[in-house]
Amino acid sequence: MLPTDSKKALSFKRCIEDGDLVIVYERHDVMKPVKVTKDGVLQNRFGFYKHSDWIGKPLGAKVFSNKGKFVYLLAPTPELWTLVLSHRTQILYIADISFVVMYLEVVPGCVVLESGTGSGSLSTSLARAVAPTGHVYSFDFHEQRAVCAREDFEKTGVCSLVTVEVRDIQGQGFPEKLEGLADSVFLDLPQPWLAVPSAAKMLKEDGVLCSFSPCIEQVQRTCEVLRSDFIEIRTFEVLLRTYEVKEMKVETGAVIGENHDEKENGGQRPSKRKHVSNEDDYAVSHDNNSSTAATSVVMARPCSEARGHTGYLTFARLQCLS
Ligand SMILES: C[S@@+](CC[C@H](N)C(=O)[O-])C[C@H]1O[C@@H](n2cnc3c(N)ncnc32)[C@H](O)[C@@H]1O
Repeated sequence: MLPTDSKKALSFKRCIEDGDLVIVYERHDVMKPVKVTKDGVLQNRFGFYKHSDWIGKPLGAKVFSNKGKFVYLLAPTPELWTLVLSHRTQILYIADISFVVMYLEVVPGCVVLESGTGSGSLSTSLARAVAPTGHVYSFDFHEQRAVCAREDFEKTGVCSLVTVEVRDIQGQGFPEKLEGLADSVFLDLPQPWLAVPSAAKMLKEDGVLCSFSPCIEQVQRTCEVLRSDFIEIRTFEVLLRTYEVKEMKVETGAVIGENHDEKENGGQRPSKRKHVSNEDDYAVSHDNNSSTAATSVVMARPCSEARGHTGYLTFARLQCLS
């Protein structure tokens, strides 16, 4: 039989219960986390929503306000959590996170060490990747950040998979009790080179380390230190390009925009645009079979507000001495 439910990963849970965290989705850029309580009410610009109407509904459900407008209730997956969590620090975003999880070779059952915890954005994805039998040990020297991270891991349902400890990793290194136990180590620290010798002791033979740094000077210093114990040292910058894809009707000399998000959002008026051609960066796919005067086209172009440089990711594998 296929597994349909899991206590460890809320994203596999299908029905909303009293006390659950859900992501209330209006549009891809308007979302918020809400704890469901049987007497709770959500208010937004579209009216009131009673939480009692949500309980028992499947995750992904469309729910209506007193004014007949709607939102979607989504599972707090690591991908969505990264977009809605409260920022107590700079955080890692999905492009870097996915690259880190892949290149650190994080799979179910792995033991991963991380410092600093920060806002727990990466930790939440690491937790899901090691579930159900692995563990993430996360360290931050800032006590309040550690407290908030633990609270967030409780809310998102990953607390049994992540342990947060308060520790100065640059000054003290990782704790001896974890020596030789880590499949991978991730560093997001201002002076990562100080933590590299300790990270090397924590890793199993063939284990992988990753260090995230916003500045190339930090990368250079880290690589100098990595050379004594590590091989396969490589640095990447991950740049993500998001596309806007819109269905439009082309009439003589005019294109009328029909934005999917606007449709989703209770049917706001589509914007009028001037004639758009390939020269304006749009890739155009015509519906040539259309017999009407207006031709339907699907247009795609890179979003103007794409995120630029976040940081450099340096990966290295512990040299095998045996
Ligand atoms: C940029 S944040 C990490 C963000 C995290 N990767 C995320 O995705 O949410 C860096 C964190 O490192 C912590 N930090 C800085 N120096 C540290 C040290 N010596 N030992 C442990 N943590 C440290 C800071 O308190 C901060 O929370």
